[in-house]
Amino acid sequence: MFTLAQKDPPDVAEACTAAGAALEAIERTQAVVSHTKSYFTRGAEKRAEIDLKQLVRDTLQLIETEAARHKVEISVELAPNLKIQCDPVQIQQAVVNLCINAIQAMSDSSHNRHLQVKTTHKDGGVTITVEDSGPGIESAAIQQIFDPFYSTKNDGMGMGLAISQACAEAHGGRINVSSTLGAGTRFELVFPSSQVISDHI
Ligand SMILES: Nc1ncnc2c1ncn2[C@@H]1O[C@H](COP(=O)(O)OP(=O)(O)O)[C@@H](O)[C@H]1O
Ligand SMILES: [Mg+2]
Repeated sequence: MFTLAQKDPPDVAEACTAAGAALEAIERTQAVVSHTKSYFTRGAEKRAEIDLKQLVRDTLQLIETEAARHKVEISVELAPNLKIQCDPVQIQQAVVNLCINAIQAMSDSSHNRHLQVKTTHKDGGVTITVEDSGPGIESAAIQQIFDPFYSTKNDGMGMGLAISQACAEAHGGRINVSSTLGAGTRFELVFPSSQVISDHI
């Protein structure tokens, strides 16, 4: 496209064809993204009453080896007797994504590598918090990290947070992020009270 624009005189017909092809590629990409998201967000029928403590413990088992490989220390604080209505596979997927991102972010930093995973119960809702002591995220980039294909990694797909946010939204919830440069990043996966099985609290 750049070389076409530099031609003298410009080849308008060729530029239009190239622009059309680029638009088609964008449309195809958008279709793939929405298809991928719907794959992860359908399946309300797979919902069950899930013990959050057990779900988080099972999830941490999946990332333990990766954390050890990068010398990341994990601390866990799980509230007792929290049950939520959810698709456990989706929620595990979201929490794995958050933890792997945290580990990857810290693997570049030389200072202490600490991953903290917590569950809390507040205002009727339930939150899973994943916090790291990594480099943090620039405030300009914070707006973009949930966008499909946004990645700052050489081999990053940029789909992890987009999919995780879609999973949270499929449960009526959301993922919030707060970050301090040089100190770390905190992601909160928040479930509304409608997903909480209250007779267990
Ligand atoms: N814990 C974190 N600390 C710092 N940056 C992060 C963290 N989690 C996500 N990011 C930023 O958000 C981007 C998007 O993350 P994600 O959607 O999982 O895609 P990917 O991991 O493939 O890059 C990452 O490339 C990184 O720049
Ligand atoms: Mg990722």
